[in-house]
Amino acid sequence: MKIVVIGGTGLIGSKLVNKLREHGHEAVAAAPNTGVNTLTGEGLAEVLKDASVVVDVSNAPSWEDAAVLNFFETSTRNLLTYETAAGVGHHVALSVVGTDRLAESGYFRAKIAQEKLIKESAIPYTIVHATQFFEFLKGLADVSIVDGKVHLPPVLFQPMAADDVATAVARITAGQPLNGIVEIGGPEQVRLDELVRRRLASLKDPREVVADPNALYSGAKISEKTLVPGKDARLSETRFETWLTQPAAQIPSAHPRTSAA
Ligand SMILES: NC(=O)c1ccc[n+]([C@@H]2O[C@H](COP(=O)([O-])OP(=O)(O)OC[C@H]3O[C@@H](n4cnc5c(N)ncnc54)[C@H](OP(=O)(O)O)[C@@H]3O)[C@@H](O)[C@H]2O)c1
Repeated sequence: MKIVVIGGTGLIGSKLVNKLREHGHEAVAAAPNTGVNTLTGEGLAEVLKDASVVVDVSNAPSWEDAAVLNFFETSTRNLLTYETAAGVGHHVALSVVGTDRLAESGYFRAKIAQEKLIKESAIPYTIVHATQFFEFLKGLADVSIVDGKVHLPPVLFQPMAADDVATAVARITAGQPLNGIVEIGGPEQVRLDELVRRRLASLKDPREVVADPNALYSGAKISEKTLVPGKDARLSETRFETWLTQPAAQIPSAHPRTSAA
């Protein structure tokens, strides 16, 4: 089966392409540096020829409110238009657990807009809501600084390894469209401030982490359960302490851009 991975050179995308190939699929990585730009439409008709499934794991280069909204609206519209023309039978998109509860955030308004376009299109779809990636914890600390200290709300948090995200998305991609949302999450719930404290300690980063109930997450006020998935979520196996021993944890941050998604 030919599967086009939009954002196939990114953190999740590159892992996903490898996993799909291991399972015998013809997986094609599509991104600006492979000649495919979903914002302009460049290369889309060519790459989608004979594709059965498209998985969108792209992310916006700028997470400023207007720019990120334009990215997800324009690129999703373009993708769905070209997919319809090519006869693609399943559109899979990666989004975030709690997206619908985070409309105060510009980034999440853009993800809500992306999901709305997918749901309104005639193409069968599956939207995967993942919790935050372990790889993203240092980046989260970097954007949560107040007077030199990391301020985070002590809410429940259930992140997962990027590798497990890619495994789950690969499985869903190879399956039938659900025409709905499926949630995936990590194996354990912890406090957000506590996990970031442990991550910074593992990196010997001396910054203090303050549990601050008024701290915002990606510009949004959040409560105890905003970031955690529901009871039907598919949970992954890799625990945070195990991940810390893996090569992926030796890279301080997988995200050069700094924002909370
Ligand atoms: N961070 C988290 O904890 C978290 C949690 C749940 C879900 N998610 C979601 O996971 C998704 C993927 O995140 P990620 O961290 O893997 O992203 P990433 O590493 O930043 O990769 C983004 C990908 O998008 C591509 N891209 C950028 N502009 C493009 C364009 N105009 N046309 C086509 N491709 C373009 C990039 O290509 P270039 O490298 O060539 O620019 C890259 O391949 C996002 O949608 C995010 O909302 C994130």
